[in-house]
Formats: sequence, structure tokens, C-alpha cells
Amino acid sequence: MMRNIVLIGFMGTGKTTIGRLLAKRLARPFVDSDRKIEQQCKMSISDMFSLYGESYFREKERDVIAKLARYRHAVIATGGGVVLASENVLRLKRNGVLIALTASVDVILERTSRRHNRPLLEAEERESKIVRLLKERELLYRQADITIDTSDKSPQEIIEMILVFLREGGYLRGRN
Ligand code: S3P
Repeated sequence: MMRNIVLIGFMGTGKTTIGRLLAKRLARPFVDSDRKIEQQCKMSISDMFSLYGESYFREKERDVIAKLARYRHAVIATGGGVVLASENVLRLKRNGVLIALTASVDVILERTSRRHNRPLLEAEERESKIVRLLKERELLYRQADITIDTSDKSPQEIIEMILVFLREGGYLRGRN
């Protein structure tokens, strides 16, 4: 079985960027769960949060993850809050290897300030919101098979680290 390669981690840790590059490198299909949700609901995530609230978004997220988890040999980038529902993690793990990306608060702050597309960070005190959410989720992200700090590495370096891990674990030949 060729497992999916699933990227989890906080906002701004590089899931989408790394996922897209990794998929290209491995010639595997790439899918981003947030974009899937937006396509399916014909609405941006920001609009979804402001019109219907976070719990509505989480419902849609669960539906999309249930679908994506059935894919084979895809690279899947998830939203930062995917780990909040244990069933999401269970589903993704059943058929996938989970890679957690992390980054320092400063780097997250910098990377997430470029665009206003993260409703959870549209707060007055962005930094303390990040610190609080990180603390709440820290343990949940540790359910991954490997964790990589992306704070001061180039995308290429991160891709190489992931490839070494996948090769050594036998994930690229369906041995695992
Ligand atoms: C969220 C992260 C976002 C998106 C939504 C909620 C979160 O995805 O799913 O805004 O709870 O951390 P990214 O991690 O891709 O920004």
C-alpha cells in the first residue's frame, strides 16, 4: 500500500509550500484540505468563519478529511486545526504517514502577517493568540511520525530531510 504523506502543523509552518514541492518531487498528486473545503463550499474560509462560525468550518473540515484519507499515494496538506478532532488524526493515520512541521513564534508571526486569510489570527494580540493556540495544540501535533522545525531551513533542506525519513522508513516503496 502506498500511504499518503500528510503534513500537519500550526499555521505558517509551511505545510502548503512544502507539500506542493514534495508532491512535485515525488510525482504524486497534491491536495490541500483548506482549498478542498473552499471549493466544496464555494466560499473562502474567512467568509465561512465570519458567516457561520468556527464549528461549521470544523464540520466541513471533518467531511473533507474523511474523503481525503481514502486517497492513495497523495501528498496532503491539512489546516492547522485538523488535529483538534481525534477522528481526523485516526483517519489520516490509517492510510498515511504524518509529518508535523513546526516553527518558532516569531517565524509564525512573520509568515502569517503577509495575508489576512487566517480568521483565528485576526485578533488584536496576534502574538499571544499564537502562543496560546500553540500551547493548546502542542501535544496533538506530536502524534506525527516525525517533526521538523522549519524556522531556519530552506524549503529544499526540508524536502531533503523528509525524503530521507520516507526512504528509511520504507514509505516510498509501499513497504510501510
Ligand atoms: C486553522 C488553520 C488554517 C485554516 C483555518 C483554521 C487553524 O489553515 O484551516 O483558518 O485552526 O489552525 P493553515 O494552517 O493552512 O493556515
